[in-house]
Amino acid sequence: MKDKVFKIIEKELERQTEMIGLIPSENIVSPYVSEVLSSCLSNKYSEGFSDRRYYEGNQFIDEIELLAIDRIKKLFGVPYANVQPYSGSPANLAIYFALIKPGDTIMGLKLAMGGHLTHGHPKVTASGTFYKSVQYGLGKDSRIDFAEVRALAKKHRPKIIVAGNTAYPFELDFKKFRKIADEVGAWLMADISHVTGLVVAGEHMSPVPYADVIMSTTHKTFRGPRGAMIMATNRGMKKDPKLGTKIDSAIIPGLQGGPHNATTAAIAIAAGEAMKPKFIKYAKQIKKNATALANELKKKGFALVGDGTDTHLILIDLTNYGVSFGTQAAFAMDVAGIYANRNTVPTEKGSPFYPSGLRIGTPLITTRGMKEKDMEKIADWIYRAIDEVKDYQLPEDNAERKLFIKKFRKEALANKDLLKLRKEVTSFTKKFPLFSW
Ligand SMILES: Cc1ncc(COP(=O)(O)O)c(C=O)c1O
Repeated sequence: MKDKVFKIIEKELERQTEMIGLIPSENIVSPYVSEVLSSCLSNKYSEGFSDRRYYEGNQFIDEIELLAIDRIKKLFGVPYANVQPYSGSPANLAIYFALIKPGDTIMGLKLAMGGHLTHGHPKVTASGTFYKSVQYGLGKDSRIDFAEVRALAKKHRPKIIVAGNTAYPFELDFKKFRKIADEVGAWLMADISHVTGLVVAGEHMSPVPYADVIMSTTHKTFRGPRGAMIMATNRGMKKDPKLGTKIDSAIIPGLQGGPHNATTAAIAIAAGEAMKPKFIKYAKQIKKNATALANELKKKGFALVGDGTDTHLILIDLTNYGVSFGTQAAFAMDVAGIYANRNTVPTEKGSPFYPSGLRIGTPLITTRGMKEKDMEKIADWIYRAIDEVKDYQLPEDNAERKLFIKKFRKEALANKDLLKLRKEVTSFTKKFPLFSW
């Protein structure tokens, strides 16, 4: 008899199929990526790199890893790539480990303003503990404040400037970051995890001419397996010809053990897919859909951080519904069949756990084949779900909050109008397979 895990996976598949996934960091992989992830490659240990492995029997693993590296180098036009990082967070740590010493200064975008934890978020993270961290923010227009970036860089002389984003809807101007990095002699590290697919399609400025080192997860707009890659540019290699060797050593023995070979193979497949015109069309459509969704949401009266998007990602500011309303909004949408994630907004008056915004994006629904006209429907469902719960306001008192959330969830799960929306959503999603070429 099959293990009960399979039954649970069936339920998860049904959830993904029936619902509209708007989490901007999620996507659906192709059947080929999926197939190699469950292949015999998981059985093999292969610590090290090709021709430098600590284990025998790696001739085919070498072939696969070299193919993945070769494809990534061609796709991005870089002289070096490492495809072994287990995921984005260890990959960022590996870069710091390769380039600087504990106690040196790094500088990244504040978490509350769209940066990532691994960009030096203070106290609770490894990057904010082992390194001195300086964090820049956004200006009144919700765009990165480059005057502040420059002033902080001049004052604190960071060894690494991180240009990267996880909840920032606008283009990262790598050219401006480069200028500041040069003024203070810092490495420029681009974390393009969110926008890799857009970069490949020419829909976002490429960091390759400007950054020294580039990190990207492989499971977001790149539409590959859950993993990451680190690239060094010609500029970076010129600055330090040993850059590649340093990054390899930071991965192993520095931080990791055996690579996840099935993931490596899936990165090779995803890179092969990203080289095809179909992928370029897909990535362009992600952006068209995000622009259309942003416009439809504005028509419904939603306030968007920075009034829109340049990318795949939209931040809805729900402060006018009430401070910390993100929790209720995301839950109501989930009941109605649309999943997103609650998120802080730059002018946050709530907390990261009870934030006042919603972070949504279009990579996943674009993979399913949804187009601009479908964004009107989605915006309408989001509006109706949120409107349905607008009177549920989070109490200030912490003990009261817990009770309130419990009661709210129970009532939302039984709310007839939300369940009616769910039916509409389910019948709509039936028209869209999970992965559409
Ligand atoms: C910009 C950025 N960097 C790094 C990461 C970390 O990636 P992972 O979740 O694979 O560790 C993320 C994931 O959210 C991200 O958005």
